[in-house]
Amino acid sequence: MRFPRWWRLSGVIAFMAMLAAPALPGAAGSRVLAHAQLIASSPGAGAIVAESPAELRLIFSEVLEAQVTSLDVVAQDGTSILRAAGEIDPEDPYALVVVAPKLADGIYSLTWRTLSTVDGHTAEGSFTFGVGAGQEAPPQAAGGGMTHTETDAIGVIGRWLTYLGLLLALGVAVFHRVVIREGFLPMRLIRLLAAGMAISAAATMAVAVASGLEAGSVPDYLLGTRNGGLQLARATVAALGAGVLLVAPARLSGLVAAASGLVGIILLIVSGHAAALPGPGPVIGGVVHVAGAAVWIGGLAGLMALILRPSLLTSQVRPLLRTYVPRFSALALVSIGLVGLTGVYSAWLQTGTLVTVETEFGRTLLMKSALAAGAFAMGGLNYLDGGRMLALLNGFRTRLTVESMAAIAVLVMTAALATTPPVEDVRGVAIQPIPDAFGEVTPGMSMEIMPGRPGVNRVVVTTTEAMAAAPAFELSLDRLDEGSTTRVPLTHVGMEGTDHSTMSMESEDGMVDWFADAVVLPAGSQWDTSVRILALDDTELSRQRFAFTLSDDGIDDGRITTLLNPAVAIALVLVLGGALGLGLGLGGMALPRCEALASRLALVGGGVTAVVLGLVIGLGQLTT
Ligand code: HEM
Repeated sequence: MRFPRWWRLSGVIAFMAMLAAPALPGAAGSRVLAHAQLIASSPGAGAIVAESPAELRLIFSEVLEAQVTSLDVVAQDGTSILRAAGEIDPEDPYALVVVAPKLADGIYSLTWRTLSTVDGHTAEGSFTFGVGAGQEAPPQAAGGGMTHTETDAIGVIGRWLTYLGLLLALGVAVFHRVVIREGFLPMRLIRLLAAGMAISAAATMAVAVASGLEAGSVPDYLLGTRNGGLQLARATVAALGAGVLLVAPARLSGLVAAASGLVGIILLIVSGHAAALPGPGPVIGGVVHVAGAAVWIGGLAGLMALILRPSLLTSQVRPLLRTYVPRFSALALVSIGLVGLTGVYSAWLQTGTLVTVETEFGRTLLMKSALAAGAFAMGGLNYLDGGRMLALLNGFRTRLTVESMAAIAVLVMTAALATTPPVEDVRGVAIQPIPDAFGEVTPGMSMEIMPGRPGVNRVVVTTTEAMAAAPAFELSLDRLDEGSTTRVPLTHVGMEGTDHSTMSMESEDGMVDWFADAVVLPAGSQWDTSVRILALDDTELSRQRFAFTLSDDGIDDGRITTLLNPAVAIALVLVLGGALGLGLGLGGMALPRCEALASRLALVGGGVTAVVLGLVIGLGQLTT
């Protein structure tokens, strides 16, 4: 059978995206920095401690899994001192601890490895430190010598197949109910959706087994780790959903498909990047994002079936698209609105900005958004067409095919996105500089504290390269609630000991990061700290003060907060737009070029979702 030109063209688009995905940065074999990153340690990287420390404590950016997470310590002569050692601190799930390591004087190389609870990826890194006066620790590798599981094509394709099964189960069930409105799902469609969910279950298990093999034991990973358990649950829900769908009475089939698709999506999001972020907003936003995408994609698949195999959906031999397109348009307008808003929200949460090409995640997200925008534009033409079969761009069929292929490509990009760490450099809590007597603060200097929770922290002071040429930097920590003062030298990557004249300074964008590691900040403590710039004879050239206090959860007073951030703006748009939609829907208003009943259902459903999500996000932003 010879396929028409537009069909071959759109097939090429989807195939190219499938081919491109594994070649995307971070998708196969390129080194991408870790999920559970080391952000502070005691002893610090490159530190010399006078005697064997009471404990080795490593603080990571994410909650740790007991499986895999451990450390090795090797002496300078290669003798192994500790192997696969360390326990996760029951009081602090971000901390890996070895109590009383009993180290003799000498230089030690510590290698750590973690398994992220967020997405089951492993990471590894190392640093050196010394015990005993007179020791000189060698310069530390940039980024703590960190390496990360190289995301593989199995991970990307497995996640993509997972999306297809789950999103189509939910989306096609909604499409059949709201657009077709003809009794129950036909048996052939039920079988197709069940097959999609079975493939989703198998793909999830394949990825889980691959992660388990990498973590050293599949059963331990599946039954003993958060991510393994969630993957197992997701595969079970998809497999059960497929099974129940095949045996359930036809009147329940739509509900079973929609419910198992939605539960599968929830389990997908709670095992994704959104789960690493505080509060319910990121996870609920992620679920709304993917459920909205499911309604849109389910509709594209439904319209495509009406053109190619109407019997899959309806008893009509020649269904009139002019009837169905205005119904689907109502669903599409509302779901795309929600997808766009929650997509921007997730982008900001994950990267701290809206658009960035600095990271692999940022570049992949940009490609995804561009493809999505292209698909939405094509959808816009189909919406204007309203099923009247205008000949624009080779007609409705071509436009719908291109839109569908672009949607498939968006999912491929998303699978690469979801398996790439969102940030390459974890940032800490930014602290407000205190103006001096003249109301001035030192331009080009900032301070962050990582992780900014009670316990061992790393203080990062960023200065301009010009400022960094000063002879020495020191951090003076005045503990106000105790009346004590500690002074620690600030060092930077490539610095030998405390003499930074031997430095090979590393700067990014003309800024240099200085570190003070192993700074213990107890809960309830109040600090007035100063970054002191010292002359060669240690006289003070200048100082910049930063003050902060710690509650039981972390830094509260003194942190830099930006009230009007994109998340608050999006929450406002969601609440106001949702309330408007709800009002219009309850008032019986139809969306332009859309059918009345579908409009009402879409406006009320979308309106309630938007208002609830907007309130959750807004309150979350106000209370963090
Ligand atoms: C304006 C366009 C969009 C933007 C800015 C956007 C952005 C995002 C972001 C930042 C994430 C989080 C990724 C992560 O956690 O790693 C995400 C997740 C997701 N997006 Fe989008 N998105 C957009 C459109 C779409 C569309 C059109 C679809 C469907 C065709 C889609 C499907 C998904 C899925 C399935 C996820 C979950 C990924 C996972 O955790 O596995 N997105 N999106």
